[in-house]
Amino acid sequence: MATILDGEALAARLREDLRESVERLADAGVRPGLATVHMGDDPAAESYVAMKQRDCAELGIDGTHVDLDPEAPASTLHGALADLDADPSVHGILVQDDVPDHVDWRAAVRRIDPEKDVDGLHPENVGRLVAGDPRFVPCTALGIRALLDEYGIGFAGAHVTVVNRSMIVGKPLAALLSRSGDSGAPTVTVCHSRTADLAAKTRAADVLVVAVDSPGFLDGSMVSEGTTVIDVGIGRVPADTERGYELVGDVDAESVEPKADYFAPVPRGVGPMTRVMLHHNTVEATRLQTGMAVDTDGGPTV
Ligand SMILES: NC(=O)c1ccc[n+]([C@@H]2O[C@H](COP(=O)([O-])OP(=O)(O)OC[C@H]3O[C@@H](n4cnc5c(N)ncnc54)[C@H](OP(=O)(O)O)[C@@H]3O)[C@@H](O)[C@H]2O)c1
Repeated sequence: MATILDGEALAARLREDLRESVERLADAGVRPGLATVHMGDDPAAESYVAMKQRDCAELGIDGTHVDLDPEAPASTLHGALADLDADPSVHGILVQDDVPDHVDWRAAVRRIDPEKDVDGLHPENVGRLVAGDPRFVPCTALGIRALLDEYGIGFAGAHVTVVNRSMIVGKPLAALLSRSGDSGAPTVTVCHSRTADLAAKTRAADVLVVAVDSPGFLDGSMVSEGTTVIDVGIGRVPADTERGYELVGDVDAESVEPKADYFAPVPRGVGPMTRVMLHHNTVEATRLQTGMAVDTDGGPTV
């Protein structure tokens, strides 16, 4: 049976380290500030934003939330971002990707000062990552890397298959892992909905990352013995729980777990790591903008 990659436990430890880093910064007269901006009406996006703000409060980070009318013109969003860019007490800015049709979310992200882009999605930060000189790495990719490092899963000579080519998972993860480092860079294959013979690619993987948004998509027939399997997908299926649903991943755990050596499940695996990395990036952004040194915040070195 696979060893579970416990993202919840690692994230709890990283949160503790972050809290200490924030305290040290506060002692030196600097309080990290994170602004979240939401211009949509998707309840799931609202709850993600609320969670990010709750985490700020818990960590001692100064959280600001800007809630914009989805009927307002794009210039309202651009104006709010300009204000946040100019505000020295705000070190990190995140625009929730739930925006109305008349707003170009990517154009909004381009307006964020790259030094405040803690989501790592501004073209300058994407370019730096690809060039091998990362500043802010998208939180999910960073969280997956930290989880693999925590369990000593090395990459030298390894083959990583990522089933996802989005800007928040597949592309940054491939760029991050392909960099050479102490443990050596793996060979990374990025798959997507047009990939021919996907199962051959997933079976060839030593480390397999799946984020297709389809519950139970990856079953045991697509996995070789001894693989490390990282489930990233988050689906909601109706269930007799307080919330009326439960979270499920893309992996059919029943058939995959017995074959895998390591398994990051949903929930408990990547989700908590993504969550803590936003605040890790915010502390990094604070250091960058204020020139304040902190000993360590326990986050990964990238
Ligand atoms: N746990 C976390 O912290 C976390 C963080 C981020 C995302 N997620 C979850 O991860 C999932 C993906 O998120 P996302 O934003 O990256 O979504 P996305 O942009 O829709 O990407 C989905 C990817 O899956 C590929 N795909 C879809 N069907 C496929 C198939 N049948 N065979 C092979 N590839 C297929 C798509 O290929 P094409 O590019 O060809 O369409 C695309 O690259 C969602 O469930 C999301 O909730 C979780």
